[in-house]
Amino acid sequence: MSANPERSQRLTVPAFQAMKRRGQKIAVLTAYDFSTALMLDQAGVDGILVGDSLSMVVQGHENTLPVTLDEMIYHAKMVGRAVQRALVVVDMPFPTYQLGAIRAIENAARILKETHCQAVKLESTADQAEIIEALVGNGIPVMAHVGLRPQTVHVMGGYRVQREEQRLVQDAKAAEQAGAFAVVLECIPSSVAARLTEELSIPTIGIGAGPGCDGQVLVSHDMLGLTPQPRPRHVRAYAELGETIARAAGQFCEDVRSGQFPGEKESFA
Ligand code: KIV
Repeated sequence: MSANPERSQRLTVPAFQAMKRRGQKIAVLTAYDFSTALMLDQAGVDGILVGDSLSMVVQGHENTLPVTLDEMIYHAKMVGRAVQRALVVVDMPFPTYQLGAIRAIENAARILKETHCQAVKLESTADQAEIIEALVGNGIPVMAHVGLRPQTVHVMGGYRVQREEQRLVQDAKAAEQAGAFAVVLECIPSSVAARLTEELSIPTIGIGAGPGCDGQVLVSHDMLGLTPQPRPRHVRAYAELGETIARAAGQFCEDVRSGQFPGEKESFA
């Protein structure tokens, strides 16, 4: 069978890049399962990221280090089955790209082959440029992730705003030069993010990087109010679903215990 250009309705990597050229802001959210991905896609997000944040918000670990490649693929498959329109990007977990280009290509290729997702994301400094180049050169689109890089939490000694402008500019430009199609800028000063957005030809997707980026990404659990407060400063909760779920579950318990549930309507004759 030959490739059918009509088949996929999803946004492509070039379409994502064209949004920057048109000055069209890019909205990205994370998802880790079929139902959430379906709702976010139908709501019109441009990109869905199967983030390694799943290690924390789904698996309950204290950082993003424990999640494995098999686990990322397991969740990315669910997301891949749901999404019709958004570009789907999957995080390469620690340390699936740190051990050399061949290992990185093998691992990223598994993600693309097994999940029906279109690109990978990796946390990078200028030191990872060679890895990005090897992936892109072998047909694997890469979204880079610069600034606060959660996989290096132990080196950073915590999650801190990254303020070294020269280093940030060097890292983001190295990613672009190596062929990354977009770059996430996490927790950096707004002025630096705005400068990078101006100077790079690829889209910048900010999280805690101010309004000057080409797009924004949030962890959906934060944005939906499913994570406990206080939340990081850069988060805006558009709903408090955690409270709604707790209230609904509490009401269910009360109704079961008082005999209010099930009623006639929920029972069969
Ligand atoms: O893992 C993740 O969800 C991310 C976003 C915070 C960008 O990398």
